[in-house]
Amino acid sequence: MTVSSTEFAAAPRGSADHAAGLGTIARLQRDKPWWLLPVTVVVVLGSFIVYSAWTATVGHGDASIAGNPPYLSPFYSPTWLAGHVPVFPALLCLLVPIGFRGTCYYYRKAYHRSFLLDPPACSVAEPRHRAYHGETRFPLVLNNLHRFTMYLAVAYVFILGYDAVNAFSLGGHLYLGLGTAIMVVNVILIAAYTFSCHSLRHFVGGGMDCYSCVRFGKPRHRIWQAVTRLNVRHPMWAWVSMFSVWSVDVYIRILGAGWFTDPHHIF
Ligand code: FES
Repeated sequence: MTVSSTEFAAAPRGSADHAAGLGTIARLQRDKPWWLLPVTVVVVLGSFIVYSAWTATVGHGDASIAGNPPYLSPFYSPTWLAGHVPVFPALLCLLVPIGFRGTCYYYRKAYHRSFLLDPPACSVAEPRHRAYHGETRFPLVLNNLHRFTMYLAVAYVFILGYDAVNAFSLGGHLYLGLGTAIMVVNVILIAAYTFSCHSLRHFVGGGMDCYSCVRFGKPRHRIWQAVTRLNVRHPMWAWVSMFSVWSVDVYIRILGAGWFTDPHHIF
């Protein structure tokens, strides 16, 4: 059954018309208590932030963990940027990913709702009302850097792609291991997250009024359509790519600690 937006707005919550007008995820969200999502985001995203801080500082100590040939953790890539800052060896490697994710439009929504409770959910009042100045003052003004970090994040897709290609080679032989597959999947998910970025969508054509009026309008329109298809699921790519980065690092650590032997074949 299809329900028009007017019928949906008029339907009482819990009615069949109301339920039919919602997607599955939205229906699940509406049926759960409002605080469940913010709490989940704080726990999961907070854990990732703590893990990242640890792996980028203390966890970098063991070189065999940072790079367990032919694998390299995305936290320490590119290698020529790693190890230059004493207390924070991975700092230079992480500047772009931190800047890109920290200013991402989706993550802004996540931290505004979950960490700042500003507001915590739709139709839920803020615990404390503060004057809102948009992104005109420090630190939120830094969010304007997103469109610039986006260019560098695109370069990172190729850097991580290079690492994944290197994971196919060990001692001059073709190497196929479970870690190779994990690194390849990670690059695909990072690419999906990066190429679904709202700023990128604007850059490739979202800011254009008339495609037939500009040079290369047709291919640009096609690229914009492809980015738009990815963009619809940007929150999902944000989460799965975060988990994939996490998984690659954990997997390489497990190998480095000798708890598991990478299933592989050398040709
Ligand atoms: Fe999320 Fe650009 S909006 S990465």
